[in-house]
Amino acid sequence: MVHIGVLGAGTWGTALARMLANTGNQVTVWSAIESEIRDLAAGKAHPNLPGAEIPESIRFTTEISEACAEKEMILFAVPSPYVRETTRRAAPYIAQKQILVDAAKGMESGTLFTMTQVIQDELCRENPAKTVRLVALSGPTHAEEVARDMPTTIVSASGDPAAAKAVQDTFMNTCMRVYTNPDIRGVELCGAVKNIIALAAGMSRGLGYGDNTKAAIITRGLAEITRLGCAVGCQEQTFTGLAGIGDLIVTATSVHSRNNRCGELIGQGMPPRKAIEKIGMVVEGINAIPAVRKLSELYGIEMPIVEAVDSIVNGGVAPEAAVEELMGRGKKGERGL
Ligand SMILES: NC(=O)c1ccc[n+]([C@@H]2O[C@H](COP(=O)([O-])OP(=O)(O)OC[C@H]3O[C@@H](n4cnc5c(N)ncnc54)[C@H](O)[C@@H]3O)[C@@H](O)[C@H]2O)c1
Repeated sequence: MVHIGVLGAGTWGTALARMLANTGNQVTVWSAIESEIRDLAAGKAHPNLPGAEIPESIRFTTEISEACAEKEMILFAVPSPYVRETTRRAAPYIAQKQILVDAAKGMESGTLFTMTQVIQDELCRENPAKTVRLVALSGPTHAEEVARDMPTTIVSASGDPAAAKAVQDTFMNTCMRVYTNPDIRGVELCGAVKNIIALAAGMSRGLGYGDNTKAAIITRGLAEITRLGCAVGCQEQTFTGLAGIGDLIVTATSVHSRNNRCGELIGQGMPPRKAIEKIGMVVEGINAIPAVRKLSELYGIEMPIVEAVDSIVNGGVAPEAAVEELMGRGKKGERGL
């Protein structure tokens, strides 16, 4: 039995907490939102996870210290814009050498840090001597399906092989198969950029386009992610694995994806700000655009799909015009890779 603190009681945090408790671990869930903790503790159900029962053994708390102290692992499951603030609140209670697992997918626009880099950075501010063991957990995983015990695969990525293995051992069960990968930055980059490609796939559906366009977006989207990842020193194989093409397929094709649904509304003609409002939850692809654009410019990497999504979301370009530009732009495609 492992003692695990889960920070964030949203869809993903709750689905993972349920799975970890059902497989015999002692789980404590914290949220910054008091009403959320009260409702989960009383109702044993999450509004976005219909039919999933919350095990009695899970402890719910609004005291972040309770979710961090004496835990072998702490899982960060808040959306990316809250990872820094959550780390700041948790920092005084995080112990030396504790395993910190990030499940949020995103990139910070000011620093261009991935989420484990944000956690590390914030902890260093609190105590430069503190060392922790960082793991990124990422892959083709919709909370709605994990909460219904559907067979799922995921990647435990860390530069610390023992930490990656400890997370693999803890999260592995008959419904979830966990693979390890030492390329933590590559895995995190995939998780951040694929949400922008999913926005594009949703826009394409909203415009009324079909499977040809979707396949093109997924394949060429992967080429963009791979180009950027290799330029910043990640391993090419990461991009053809579960955290790369695996996650891209699930996000770009599934009805569960908020990015995909948000893109669809924009493709149908809804102004981007209204579409984000209508989704009503954090749309990570939208948040990731500034950082990914800056990183690609810094390394001189061509990312035409990401650029097109940016022009639609932030530049006021109509989706139809962006597609026309994408189809006819620049030099002709080569080799079809
Ligand atoms: N939902 C999924 O299927 C899934 C799967 C894999 C990864 N992820 C990633 O996990 C992260 C969380 O996604 P989610 O689907 O659970 O989101 P969500 O919108 O369901 O969760 C939001 C939660 O964030 C927390 N929160 C809100 N405001 C906060 C604040 N100011 N400070 C701290 N915490 C606050 C609350 O607990 C809230 O419930 C995202 O980065 C997402 O990309 C989600």
